[in-house]
Amino acid sequence: MAKSKSIEHVAIIMDGNGRWAAERAHRRVWGHIRGSNVVNDIVEAADEMGCKALTLYAFSTENFSRPQEEITTLFRLLKKFIKRERKRVMEKNLRFKIIGDISALPEDTQKLISSLERDSMVNKGMWLNFAFSYGGRVEIIDAINSFIEKNPGEQITEESFAANLYNPEAGDVDLMIRTGGDQRISNFLLWQVAYGELYFTPNKWPEFTKEEFYQIFEKVSGRERRFGSVAADLDYDQTSAQAKLNKELLK
Ligand code: FPP
Repeated sequence: MAKSKSIEHVAIIMDGNGRWAAERAHRRVWGHIRGSNVVNDIVEAADEMGCKALTLYAFSTENFSRPQEEITTLFRLLKKFIKRERKRVMEKNLRFKIIGDISALPEDTQKLISSLERDSMVNKGMWLNFAFSYGGRVEIIDAINSFIEKNPGEQITEESFAANLYNPEAGDVDLMIRTGGDQRISNFLLWQVAYGELYFTPNKWPEFTKEEFYQIFEKVSGRERRFGSVAADLDYDQTSAQAKLNKELLK
């Protein structure tokens, strides 16, 4: 039977920063700086729409091959965001989490992350996850290894696997949005997006707005999600010529 499920977990690939900046004869890092200013609006919009989790792709494991200036800028933007938004995260009752390997980040940033993660753990509102130094395949391998370590010799199931993901409480992705025009998943939340709706917008991340987020949300909420199943053909006439032909073909 067709199921309708509300959009609880939204994941966003915030792409197009570099191109947005280049189109304006600026350096790529300018695009990231402007892009980081959009984050707050979208966090607010997702919260207003009643989402249980918002996961933003801020830095992939592949991004380490970018020029050092760009890597450093993205590290700094994360640090700045945590310092600036700490108060708002607590006021808005959000639970903050970084998914990914933060060991490559400067120690003071790691401390800021741990402290906000710990303090916001008592909150009951939306999960705000930043995927940073994150790779979907690595998350899968890490989940398997973590399961094996805790349950040597046991068989892994879908449930026990999912319980070992970086943030099991965020759950499956209902809607994945990618800005910037490319239509790829780019190693983002590979397990969680299995039945998620995908939405690709040509607009680049620095020009993405709350209004567009609401529009996408509305559009996707209207889509029927079948999760692999379909409803029976209720008006199917068993005596029709088509029904007879089908029976013949299936003999
Ligand atoms: C992809 O654009 C975007 C990123 C690699 C980084 C996304 C990061 C931000 C939006 C800012 C992070 C904010 C915080 C608070 C951590 P791209 O540079 O690959 O764009 P392009 O496809 O145009 O080159």
